[in-house]
Amino acid sequence: MTGEERPGARQWVPERGGIRALRAAAPDCRGCELWQDATQVVFSEGPARARMMLVGEQPGDREDLEGEPFVGPAGHRLDDAIAEAGLDRNGLYLTNAVKHFRFERSGRRRIHEKPAVGHIDACRPWLAAEIAVVRPDVVVAMGTTAARSVLGRNVRIGAVRGTVLESADSSATPVIVTVHPSSLLRMPEKAEREAAFRAFVADLQRAAEIVGGDVHDPD
Ligand code: URA
Ligand code: SF4
Repeated sequence: MTGEERPGARQWVPERGGIRALRAAAPDCRGCELWQDATQVVFSEGPARARMMLVGEQPGDREDLEGEPFVGPAGHRLDDAIAEAGLDRNGLYLTNAVKHFRFERSGRRRIHEKPAVGHIDACRPWLAAEIAVVRPDVVVAMGTTAARSVLGRNVRIGAVRGTVLESADSSATPVIVTVHPSSLLRMPEKAEREAAFRAFVADLQRAAEIVGGDVHDPD
């Protein structure tokens, strides 16, 4: 399927209902071709009334198999950072810019492949609907894919880090852009990895400050 044949998710996104309605409709999405090779759609996790929303790139291998976001290696690193920042994962709304796993096969292995701009934009109506339903006080966009979806444009993380931006939808929700947690796993030098982790934790804390530190599970 080429870019021209990606209709985008809009026609599959219910116009009414909450997160449950969105989650129920997502498996039927044919907004781009990524559903074809993935095991299942991976939607989101967390309370619909969460005040802080964390957005990743796309499900990874483990997430694709389990149907839950951030349950693989990047998710474990994210858990470490959430704990280090003094936050409670159960109080956060976690989701991804792209809801199906994109990969290439290499023998029996499935190698993560970054979503193309066409996939990000095709999947964007889901994230926009999630923001409209949850109405978080802050969105943390982790990595360039999440940043493109939330901001509606490409940014360099280094250029916007430490500033508060606004989401491109009509809510103009405050947005903090940070790195993707998987980048914290790839650095060869321990000192570099630790510094990057601390900077990531600091970004989460900055986001928590925007919501007044009140990010515990509202249920
Ligand atoms: N990376 C992501 O961006 N999201 C996940 O759910 C898992 C890994
Ligand atoms: Fe739909 Fe997004 Fe999956 Fe593409 S990746 S089929 S747009 S849910």
